[in-house]
Amino acid sequence: MPRPRKDQYYRQAKKQGYRARSAFKLKQMIRKYKLLEGVNVVVELCSSPGGWTQVLREKDRTMEIVAVDINPMAPLPGVKFVKGDITEDTTLEKIEQLTRGSADLILSDCSPNVSGHWDIDVARQLDLARITLEIGHKLLEKNGKVLTKVFEGRGFREFMTATRKSYNSVKLVKPDASRKTSAEIYLLAIGPKKN
Ligand SMILES: C[S@@+](CC[C@H](N)C(=O)[O-])C[C@H]1O[C@@H](n2cnc3c(N)ncnc32)[C@H](O)[C@@H]1O
Repeated sequence: MPRPRKDQYYRQAKKQGYRARSAFKLKQMIRKYKLLEGVNVVVELCSSPGGWTQVLREKDRTMEIVAVDINPMAPLPGVKFVKGDITEDTTLEKIEQLTRGSADLILSDCSPNVSGHWDIDVARQLDLARITLEIGHKLLEKNGKVLTKVFEGRGFREFMTATRKSYNSVKLVKPDASRKTSAEIYLLAIGPKKN
């Protein structure tokens, strides 16, 4: 597949010292959906290299940030980093310890390894989104929010149906900085339904 062109957001990220152009996607979603309002503790899954984490730190100097990735991430002031696979229980245990079992916002910009087979890639992406939403169920209070990347493809409709059963409000959002040609879209789920 040809590499995407280096666009305005790529250049702006370089110029402004962000580790990833995706920083601008998060900035746009924070602004539009007031994601950080009332948030004291945020868990950011799949955070490396740290573009989103930089934005979080810059927007709020006191918010507790727990960032998690299977790959290493260069440190950022006041950010607790867990190096681990989000599909593994031991990683969740570490997150629970660091957050004392409670968070207000879960962010997830995970990208699994690309297989080259579209249906497999969609399934892997939806699996990581599903795990993110489960982590949300464990850590969030009743008005807590999850923002996670998803791909529209086979299994997406069933995924949406299941998510609507477990969260009070579910919507899909596509920030301007997300490439128009990319199948990625973000799902914002608010309020885990607790029995
Ligand atoms: C698109 S990057 C995230 C970029 C980040 N939002 C930023 O602004 O710098 C996707 C990340 O997902 C991570 N990842 C993929 N699968 C994972 C898993 N199972 N557990 C933890 N991290 C994972 C990758 O290591 C990669 O760093």
